[in-house]
Amino acid sequence: MLRIALPKGRIGDDALGLFEKIFGGEFRFGPRKLILERGGFRFLRVRNQDVPTYVYHQAADLGVVGLDLLEERRLDLIRLLDLGFGRCSVSIGIRQGESLDFSRPSLKVATKLENITRDFFSKRAIPVEIIKLYGSIELAPLVGLADMIVDIVETGETMRQNGLYPALSIMESSAYLVANRNSFYDHKGAILRLRAQIEEVLRGSP
Ligand code: PRP
Repeated sequence: MLRIALPKGRIGDDALGLFEKIFGGEFRFGPRKLILERGGFRFLRVRNQDVPTYVYHQAADLGVVGLDLLEERRLDLIRLLDLGFGRCSVSIGIRQGESLDFSRPSLKVATKLENITRDFFSKRAIPVEIIKLYGSIELAPLVGLADMIVDIVETGETMRQNGLYPALSIMESSAYLVANRNSFYDHKGAILRLRAQIEEVLRGSP
């Protein structure tokens, strides 16, 4: 039985929707349930940030996770398929009315995506102080904790509501189907079959 780690929220729901289209029946976690067995698969419901961990440590064979997190975590996982949903960008956000200025002598950047942020600025030889936060990133520039943020922008509404705007996109992201190397070689036939079935559903959807 293939084990698939799914994040809570939209991406996980969209992933279960794909499985419904392939196998029929209802794929939905019961209230507060963390394991769902359906159609010969065992789905694990985990926090978004924990999907790569479950897959990498082989507690799950497969996972569905945003490219942003894959880039941030840098674990050696096989990226089997871009699922096309969960689209968002990782963007630099600054206060409305300001323009992006990397030449200031000291720049403080608040983010939960430390590695992506460090890479972006070090590739451009821009010295910054990175302030790691775990959520509500948009608050940081408003209270003087940081000059700018690097955060996920989906609709842009969170930034807008907090007087910020995305001044520059660092990367585009969407949900990927991933596997760890051992599971992939042990269950290659089943995994490639599943990927083909998902691809077929994705081709059929608008
Ligand atoms: C992300 C991000 C923003 C928000 C952006 O947080 O940190 O706050 O979504 O979405 P929008 O552009 O549509 O307003 P998320 O909801 O993923 O929560 P998290 O901080 O727990 O990761």
